[in-house]
Amino acid sequence: MGLTDTVTLHNGVQMPQFGLGVWQVDDGDEVIHSVKWALEAGYRMVDTAAAYGNEKGVGQAIKESGVSRDDIFVTTKVANSNQGYEETLAAFEDSMKKLGLETLDLYLIHWPVAESFVDTWKAMEKLYKDGRIRAIGVCNFHQHHFEKLMETAEIKPMVNQIELHPYLNQEPLRQFCKEQDIVVEAYSPLGSGNLLQNEDLKAIGEKYGKSPAQVMLRWDIQHGIVTIPKSVHKERIQQNADIFDFELTQEDMDEIDRLNQNHRFGWNPERFDK
Ligand code: A2P
Repeated sequence: MGLTDTVTLHNGVQMPQFGLGVWQVDDGDEVIHSVKWALEAGYRMVDTAAAYGNEKGVGQAIKESGVSRDDIFVTTKVANSNQGYEETLAAFEDSMKKLGLETLDLYLIHWPVAESFVDTWKAMEKLYKDGRIRAIGVCNFHQHHFEKLMETAEIKPMVNQIELHPYLNQEPLRQFCKEQDIVVEAYSPLGSGNLLQNEDLKAIGEKYGKSPAQVMLRWDIQHGIVTIPKSVHKERIQQNADIFDFELTQEDMDEIDRLNQNHRFGWNPERFDK
């Protein structure tokens, strides 16, 4: 078990189970440093989005890192304002230009914009069939969004990226995705930093000599969830990856499962208004 372990998507593509998230990281030096430190620490996946405004820096860091492009799994997302068929095709080219890449590993619909996600998906399918993207998926989709999408989709999404952490463990949606062979990827795996002071997580971590952040990320790994913690600090980027030398007991896994409060720190896809 290690940093480069992968999960297999339903089209056979191997996706690392652990990576760096760069939401709320500034373009330029901040994101360049974060991505370079992560790649130095052995991370092999970076998750960005057009809406984050930092694809250019991500691309620059990848290029300058010395790590082979083929060894890095790069994800970006189509922004809400660019959803629709033609708009998505154009947005993809724009993202690729900023990233400085020819092909992308994973392209995601950022949010289920009600009136356009079906057309957006058609464009994703085209890009996939054209060989521009190795895998396609969605973010923030609930079961009913998948059901609507699958009425017209030819290709089932391979990934659903959702807010997921011990206060929002998303069990029913995870179960649905498992049945559908859709990989679940956790964003805000540390609750956007809000869970770092949780006493239960601290107490569990002390038993293993690990921080609450490491406990939460290890909980993801043991649940088979893909996880992408964000940090702009070198030592934290390293610390977050140092989770492959211990294993949470079933009892501790259960205790963390029981912390669920269905509490969101981000937007609710049901009440989301672009
Ligand atoms: P920073 O970027 O300043 O290091 P999430 O991944 O759930 O969105 O959480 C990210 C938040 O948690 C950021 O505020 C980040 O701050 C902070 N963070 C990430 N890793 C750690 C860590 N190992 N220890 C403490 N804070 C962390």
